[in-house]
Amino acid sequence: MAEELSSSKLGTLEYWEQTYDKEIENFNEFGDEGEVWFGIQTAKRVVNWLKNKQVDKENSSIIDIGCGNGFSCCMLAEAGFKQITGVDYSEKAIKLAKSIAESKNLNIDYKVVDVLNKEENLNSKKYDIAIDKGTYDAIGLCPDDPRTKRYLYKEFLLRVLANDSLFIITSCNWTSKELENFFTESNEFEIVEEIKAPITFQFGGSTGSTTSTLVFKFKKSN
Ligand SMILES: C[S@@+](CC[C@H](N)C(=O)[O-])C[C@H]1O[C@@H](n2cnc3c(N)ncnc32)[C@H](O)[C@@H]1O
Repeated sequence: MAEELSSSKLGTLEYWEQTYDKEIENFNEFGDEGEVWFGIQTAKRVVNWLKNKQVDKENSSIIDIGCGNGFSCCMLAEAGFKQITGVDYSEKAIKLAKSIAESKNLNIDYKVVDVLNKEENLNSKKYDIAIDKGTYDAIGLCPDDPRTKRYLYKEFLLRVLANDSLFIITSCNWTSKELENFFTESNEFEIVEEIKAPITFQFGGSTGSTTSTLVFKFKKSN
């Protein structure tokens, strides 16, 4: 069983509300869209992977879990994907994401949603693709019972994903192996592939990347 991470303020709603409050101010004043977690290239690799797999841009419904300022949602919309939903539990994040999308004339559906709320099923809508960049990481840093929260996160996926859908997760806190073990342990998810990042460090004869991006297929159990 993987060890839990040390808790951090990044695992609290208060932190995200304060962060996005400042980012709203910066956006209004300077047009600065705010932090791109793990860099632009990381988001781009996921969008390019979907494009290369010729995912249907008109009809695939995509949800970005913990969308923050909506950077990935905008990139998907700019690449021609038409059905994009971004959810985040921070009202401020959703306010910022809506302002940015409006400024770019992009049509993205943004909602305030706490994915750890057991009642949340997004009005029974099922998504063909879910992406996450940094949200499972943030949840794993909750000061209060992060292990239970990581399982609540997985239960959310089970409620909102369509059969045969894809789940693409990028993490900086968990290795590919840890992500694979956690998401495949009860057989709902199977690994499709790892979207490799270029080697970004070399240490003591080992080489590696600071983030892991994995693609899973979701199979609904009967
Ligand atoms: C590291 S940021 C990543 C933001 C965005 N995915 C990106 O790549 O720029 C983590 C995000 O997860 C959101 N988040 C954390 N816990 C959440 C929860 N329980 N439900 C929904 N969003 C959550 C935070 O508000 C924050 O926007």
